Amino acid sequence: KIPVIIDCDPGIDDAIAIFMALASDKLNVRAITTVAGNVSIDKTTNNALKLTEYIGCDVKIAKGASEPLSGKKIHAEFVHGESGLGVFKIPDAMKQIYYKNAYDTIYEEALILEDKLQIIALGPLTNIAITILKYPEVKSKIQHITLMGGSAGYGNHTPAAEFNIYADPEAAKIVFESGIPITMVGLDATNKAYLTEEDLKEIKSFNNRASEFTFCTMMEFLKFCRKYGYDGALMHDPTAVAVVLDESFIKKQHLRVDIETKGEFTRGKTVVDIYKISGKEPNAYVVLDVDRVKFVEIVKGLLKKYTE
Ligand code: BDR
Ligand code: CA
Repeated sequence: KIPVIIDCDPGIDDAIAIFMALASDKLNVRAITTVAGNVSIDKTTNNALKLTEYIGCDVKIAKGASEPLSGKKIHAEFVHGESGLGVFKIPDAMKQIYYKNAYDTIYEEALILEDKLQIIALGPLTNIAITILKYPEVKSKIQHITLMGGSAGYGNHTPAAEFNIYADPEAAKIVFESGIPITMVGLDATNKAYLTEEDLKEIKSFNNRASEFTFCTMMEFLKFCRKYGYDGALMHDPTAVAVVLDESFIKKQHLRVDIETKGEFTRGKTVVDIYKISGKEPNAYVVLDVDRVKFVEIVKGLLKKYTE
């Protein structure tokens, strides 16, 4: 099993990504660390506690950063609702957060796992950047970071930038320049990884807690996605989890990615050197295409496990 930490800002699609990761027998989820992003840090942390208790999984939840390294804090309640879990209501959790914060937890796990730890980052990269700044030696102890963020093309929060990177460009710069092996699962991939209404109805028929959550939140999100011309509900964060499990449904290239932190119109853009013009060493595997049908099979296979 691959030992992973899921760093996230739940978030409706973070929630589904968590359910998938916890259902997989290929992953050993060591901890979930939370960051401010889709909603405030108190809400993302509370949601992580609630979601794991709802699904019956006792994984430790460590609280992370409440704001970006610099610049203005942004949230996305217009997508994820006031609570961060869209239209879905889950009672408050009984369990408590882990006694260590997110950065100390990531460092602790990196030491315990002796270079084997992987990170799946599904929110702004603030926690990972702080861990690198606080414990620089951690860079050689993290085996791989698979992150949902960025885009080789256009953005979804500004014309140029994807939400997770835009929410903390300085942190993204630290992570992309860290030398830690990275797979970037950006909008080039995730805008093609969607669930149609038909898929969602099939998922509902699994009749378990994870499938119920996915059906309710994604049916609502589907309305939003349709406004932008998509035929289904985009599964941004679940795509990153699926990539860690099975690369057979993606096409990726090893490329140089730089983070724009200054541009008047382009702050938070991941500048992807597709034609290798810069002459700089590649620093990320950029996922550029997905086989949607295979992706949907992976999602369904994992969500079905909660019925068994
Ligand atoms: C990303 O932004 C968030 O709103 C989602 O949870 C996902 O991580 C997509 O741009
Ligand atoms: Ca997210």
